Order: sequence, then C-alpha cells, then structure tokens
Amino acid sequence: MRKGCPYGTHRVIEPRGLLPQPAWKLDNSMNIYDNEVLIDVEVLNIDSASFTQIEEEAGGDEKKIAAIMTGIVKERGKHHNPVTGSGGMLIGRAKEIGPAWRGKSPLEAGQRLATLVSLSLTPLRIDKIKKIHKDIDQVEIEGQAILFESGIFAVLPEDLPQTLSLAVLDVAGAAAQTAKLVRPGDRVVIIGAGGKSGLLCLFEARKRAGVTGQVIGIAPRETSKNRAESTGYCDVVLMADAADALGIMNQVKAATGGAMADVTINCVNIPNTELSSILATRDGGLVYFFSMATSFTAAALGAEGVGKDVTMIVGNGYTRDHAAISLNIMRESPVLRKIFEELYS
Ligand SMILES: NC(=O)c1ccc[n+]([C@@H]2O[C@H](COP(=O)([O-])OP(=O)(O)OC[C@H]3O[C@@H](n4cnc5c(N)ncnc54)[C@H](OP(=O)(O)O)[C@@H]3O)[C@@H](O)[C@H]2O)c1
Repeated sequence: MRKGCPYGTHRVIEPRGLLPQPAWKLDNSMNIYDNEVLIDVEVLNIDSASFTQIEEEAGGDEKKIAAIMTGIVKERGKHHNPVTGSGGMLIGRAKEIGPAWRGKSPLEAGQRLATLVSLSLTPLRIDKIKKIHKDIDQVEIEGQAILFESGIFAVLPEDLPQTLSLAVLDVAGAAAQTAKLVRPGDRVVIIGAGGKSGLLCLFEARKRAGVTGQVIGIAPRETSKNRAESTGYCDVVLMADAADALGIMNQVKAATGGAMADVTINCVNIPNTELSSILATRDGGLVYFFSMATSFTAAALGAEGVGKDVTMIVGNGYTRDHAAISLNIMRESPVLRKIFEELYS
C-alpha cells in the first residue's frame, strides 16, 4: 500500500508543493494510502457563505445548485467553492481504515463520523446528489471522501439527532473561541446573532460575561431578531444591516452608553461587514471574524483607515475540544436545543 504524508500533500495535483487546502486540485481517486480513512459520505454540510453564494448563482434552482456543486468537485477533486474559498464538512461511515491509523485512533470501520476539517481540503467524489435541504445548507449525496492522518473528526453522539450534530459541528469553533475570548463584565456584540454560529456564541458570551457584562445581538430581519431574543441570552437585540457600518456603530453606541464593545464577534454569511465589526468595537477591544466572507485586506485597511486600534482574530475553525464544547451546549441549554431541533432535525 502507498505511504501518504500526514497532511495529505500526496493528494495534491496542482500546484505541486502546496498543502491540500490552498491547492487548486486534489486527486480524488478512492484507493486509500496507508494513513487515510475512506468514508462513505451521507450528508454534506456546505459552509453558509458558500451555500449562499451557490444558491444565488443558481437563482435558487435545485438542479442548478446540484450542477454547480458537482462541477466544483469535478474540477477541483474537493468541494472548495472558488468564489468564497470556503468548504463545509460531512457526515458518513468509515468504510476502510488504513493500517497506519490502527492503534493510534479508536475509530473503527462502520462507525458514523463527522469530519471536523474543511471540505475545502477533503478529497471528495460525488456519485449522486439525492436531496438538497436549502433551508439548512445540507445536501444528501452518494459518494466517498478521504480523511488524512492529520484530519480531526468526531464520532457522532448517540443522544443527539444526526443533522443537529452536523449543524453544530459545522460551526464548532465559534462558540469554543467565544468561551476563550470573553471575560466577566465584557460588553459583547454578536453580529448575525440569529444564525447557527451566532446563537451558539450568544450562549457562551452570556455565560462568560456574566451578569455584570452586556450581550448585544445584531440581526437583519424580524425572524432572526426574534430567534436571538427568544434565547434570553441577550440584553438587547438590535435590528441592523451589517453592511451599514455607520448605522451599526450608532446603534451600538446608544446601546452601550457610548462605551462600545469590548469584544465583537462577526457571524454573518455575507461580504462587506468588516467595518461594522471594527466600528462597533472600542479602541483596544477585540474583533473575532468567524465569518468566512471576511476579507483580510478589507479588515486590515479598514481598521487603519478609521484609526481603530483593535485586535483582530481570524476565525480559526479549530480550537482545542471545540466539538465537545459545542455539542455540550445542546445539553446545557434547553432553549437552544429546541431552536436547533426545530431548524436542523
Ligand atoms: N471560521 C470557520 O471555521 C467557519 C466555519 C463554519 C462557518 N463559518 C462562517 O461563519 C459564518 C456564519 O455561519 P452560520 O452557519 O452561522 O450561518 P447562518 O446560520 O446562515 O447565519 C448567518 C447569519 O447572518 C445574518 N445576516 C445575513 N445578512 C446580514 C446582514 N446584512 N446584517 C446582519 N446579519 C446578517 C443572517 O440573518 P438572517 O437569518 O436574517 O438571514 C443569519 O442569521 C459564515 O460566513 C460561514 O461561512 C466559518
């Protein structure tokens, strides 16, 4: 059996020398190397920024969405959206485990798992698109995928529905990072508060900021505003467009009595929201860009342009124990469990 690199560089076709995530094209043949796991894929959870872009390009037409998705995988050997640069993750069953994995991991063939590395670096073959769930960015397929030796994954818990676990695990980094970043007494602004990652962040922000802190949600529509409010974790939910930087700044100024946010967390799925996050934050504060629609250039030059000295964190999708922390929110918070079950089960 062929021996593979732990990071999967042996699968890179173009350009040679890159790692699988930044590479344009991967080898998606399904004969495994000694340190890979072959997965029979059941569901793809397409990253929200990516699915929103594909849906818009397809004008909402499911046949066109399917054609765009299969086109991406045919061209790149992975579901790496060339417009947004983002991926998503998947659920499937381990079919074959390479000999180099044995003894290092408790994973067994036949177990159902969710990959916690992005689809943007996962060799994937789609044989058939069975069903597209537009409302939850999930797509049932027949196909196979490869997990590298360095690839993290979670065996799916027994006590939670599969689609719910997939939804939570897709954004697992957000809440776990929030838990690390928010201190007691902080004023926290969460933009996109009624979405999947936003709701999980609300829980951790409230828990960490405590009664002396302030949690401010921002949502663009009544539905998502009501959803964020119904959690009970926000002091206030503002209805505002994240692309309207001055509007957001003024609303946050009013809500914080002029102090502005100590920590701002951006969980939206649309572009051009960097400056609203920066202007909502006090000088010396911190902005965590979880959104994959964030532009590094727009954030860096935008902050400089308005003379804001804020620390900006790129939304690393991984932080230690993120899967366990995020799945546990579904057990700790009955109100979020109910919302997630209604939306994703
Ligand atoms: N860093 C990582 O590793 C990682 C991993 C996964 C996902 N992501 C990214 O994280 C972001 C959020 O993902 P998600 O799954 O939580 O998405 P989601 O459930 O679709 O939530 C996005 C939220 O943004 C809100 N929104 C849309 N346009 C807005 C606007 N103009 N102003 C204010 N809010 C607006 C939406 O409100 P409505 O519901 O009213 O439309 C929605 O509640 C995406 O960009 C996704 O790509 C990052």
